[in-house]
Amino acid sequence: MIGNFIYSNPTKIYFGKESLNGLREELPKYGKNILLVYGGGSIKKNGIYDEIITILNECNKEIFEDAGVMPNPTVEKLYEGCRRAKEGNIDLILAVGGGSVCDYAKAVSVSAHCMEDPWEKYYLRMEDVDNKIIPVGCVLTMVGTGSEMNGGSVITNHKQKRKIGHVFGENVMPKFSILNPLYTFTIPKYQMVAGFFDIMSHILEQYFSGNDDNTSDYIMEGLLKSLIHSTKVAIENPKDYEARSNIMWIATWALNTFIAKGKTTDWEVHMIGQSIGAYTDATHGMTLSAVSIPYYRFIMPYGLEKFKRYAINVWNVNPNGKTDEQIAKEGLSRMEEYMIEMGLVMNISELGVKEEMLEGIASGTFIMKGGYKILTHDDIVKILRSSMK
Ligand code: NZQ
Ligand code: ZN
Repeated sequence: MIGNFIYSNPTKIYFGKESLNGLREELPKYGKNILLVYGGGSIKKNGIYDEIITILNECNKEIFEDAGVMPNPTVEKLYEGCRRAKEGNIDLILAVGGGSVCDYAKAVSVSAHCMEDPWEKYYLRMEDVDNKIIPVGCVLTMVGTGSEMNGGSVITNHKQKRKIGHVFGENVMPKFSILNPLYTFTIPKYQMVAGFFDIMSHILEQYFSGNDDNTSDYIMEGLLKSLIHSTKVAIENPKDYEARSNIMWIATWALNTFIAKGKTTDWEVHMIGQSIGAYTDATHGMTLSAVSIPYYRFIMPYGLEKFKRYAINVWNVNPNGKTDEQIAKEGLSRMEEYMIEMGLVMNISELGVKEEMLEGIASGTFIMKGGYKILTHDDIVKILRSSMK
């Protein structure tokens, strides 16, 4: 292990088929006014909305609704949410949806009582919160981001062509999250597999950094193996409860800060993906899948030892009679085959990226320092270009 750290995660998890009952335990802890935040209406179609309204009424809550949170929530929507939260004198924000709804709820939670422009303060200047924070609780319906148990909040500003995430501290993390794998059965296939790859990318971007002997790397190899196994089952049968519940729990652990402790991390794929998202509004997981193989092939020579370990331990590549480079390459080829089998988007042109956007996307990409190679602007353009069809 390297580095000293403090580990604490305040989010209480209710997991399983009966987990919504957790709301009955949690709601009495907060005041009367609840801001019920959700997306474009999937929760009305699959009945989750009705279940939640029933419990809110049972608990005598005053319900203020904030619907229409879009995938990749925008800064304009954030301003609207702040107005609603202030007008309703909100005591708890209840987010019911995927990462976008949870991220948005956290953004409103820190912004409603902020005297400055929250986009500038939190997302451009990355400042800490120094005003009242409205508590957030989540009912998760889409799996991938880990937003249910972390302080992350990603907001998109289309006018400025920037998509930026702020990782807030413990005081902003959800107070509780309800994880019912049954709720994930209705996710459309495209979203489902995008979520699967989001999880994989979160793990890989913490794995491909550093070469010390680190317990987290062993944990991540285990999470990856379980993820690969369960996603293959879920692709065949999306209603396989065992597989969907494993995936839901892996997603939470992939990004609830635990596996990052005591080690360095990379996050360059996410930075490139977010910049692609700012230009295209594409589905988050697909922005990652489209650049991952080009990125990893590009940095492989700089982190050969770890890529070899990944090939053997995660993809079961037989090392006998092969050079380190051959082993590492075979591991990435197996990963690529798996990604194609899952139906992931493998090139950025499919996401709407045009040649003339490449320079802008590269300029909007934050350069991280924890990976095996610190990228230059031209490196990013090169990686993007090799993801064009
Ligand atoms: O809006 P509705 O109608 O609810 O439909 C949603 C949405 O269209 C649909 N959906 C969700 N649950 C469903 C369902 N449809 C049917 N049945 C269900 N049970 O799925 C669509 C996508 O939802 P979204 O919340 O956008 O997906 P996801 O969970 O992937 O969230 C993506 C956002 O999270 C950010 C991304 O950048 C993106 O903005 N991230 C947040 C992170 C964090 N907080 O740590 C880290 C991640 O890396 C990521 O950047
Ligand atoms: Zn992600």
